[in-house]
Amino acid sequence: MERKLPEDYSLLVFDNVDSTNEEAKRLIRAKMHGEDSEKTVVWAKSQNSGRGRQGRKWSSPTGNLYLSIILNPDSKIEILSQLSFVAALALKAAIEKFLPKDAVCEYKWPNDLLVNGCKIAGILLENEVVKKGSSGWLVVGVGVNVKKFPKNLDIAATSLKELGCEDLNVEDVMEEVISSFNDKFEVWKNEGFDVVRKEWLASARGIGEEINVSLPKESLSGVFKEINHNGELVLSLGGGKIRLISGGEVFFDLKESRQKKASV
Ligand code: BTN
Repeated sequence: MERKLPEDYSLLVFDNVDSTNEEAKRLIRAKMHGEDSEKTVVWAKSQNSGRGRQGRKWSSPTGNLYLSIILNPDSKIEILSQLSFVAALALKAAIEKFLPKDAVCEYKWPNDLLVNGCKIAGILLENEVVKKGSSGWLVVGVGVNVKKFPKNLDIAATSLKELGCEDLNVEDVMEEVISSFNDKFEVWKNEGFDVVRKEWLASARGIGEEINVSLPKESLSGVFKEINHNGELVLSLGGGKIRLISGGEVFFDLKESRQKKASV
């Protein structure tokens, strides 16, 4: 069946791949010339090596959405990370079209989407440099729990089905996600990151609250002030001290994160 995608986007459909991000990167490497992979979407019904952030596995059974959008935005590497926030806005806008009105949809830094406090979607942004000295291609990988969700994560998860969207099919969610991504991408290109940043902050979980941030070599507690113009988390440690965090895991429930640390 013909799918309704925004102009300029093309779709590659697979029953199963290792990871749509990997497939997208293979495509970039195979084409290496010209711009003809720009806005190609790699969509798979299932993945057998789905990847999450920080080297985690992303459970990928049939029934959920797994896609990667290939972009060549011709921007500096630092700027490219802004696109994970663009993708987060797109996911929220798309998912809210299906959710019951009373569902609370929030962003969790850096790029998760929560509904009623449970993770429903994640984003994995990867850079593929094929020409030395250029910022290269960008792969925006998106996973949405439509019918199923894993029960054994560090963070509670949910799915659209669990939230009452029983009759939804993955194709409908896919179309909404790509269409919303296109809208938000245009906003980012035409109006800049500050508009994106403000929209993200308006629905971000934990702003103004004490949070715990787990980094590879340390763990920090402080007040989550905002995100800056690079998308870094601005953490106030007290006594006027500020730490900018560019990667890590955020915990809102301080008691839970302390227990987790104690049991490692
Ligand atoms: C995370 O929350 O840790 C990010 C999850 C990203 C999962 C998506 S599914 C489509 C794409 N292919 C992958 O292997 N990962 C991303």
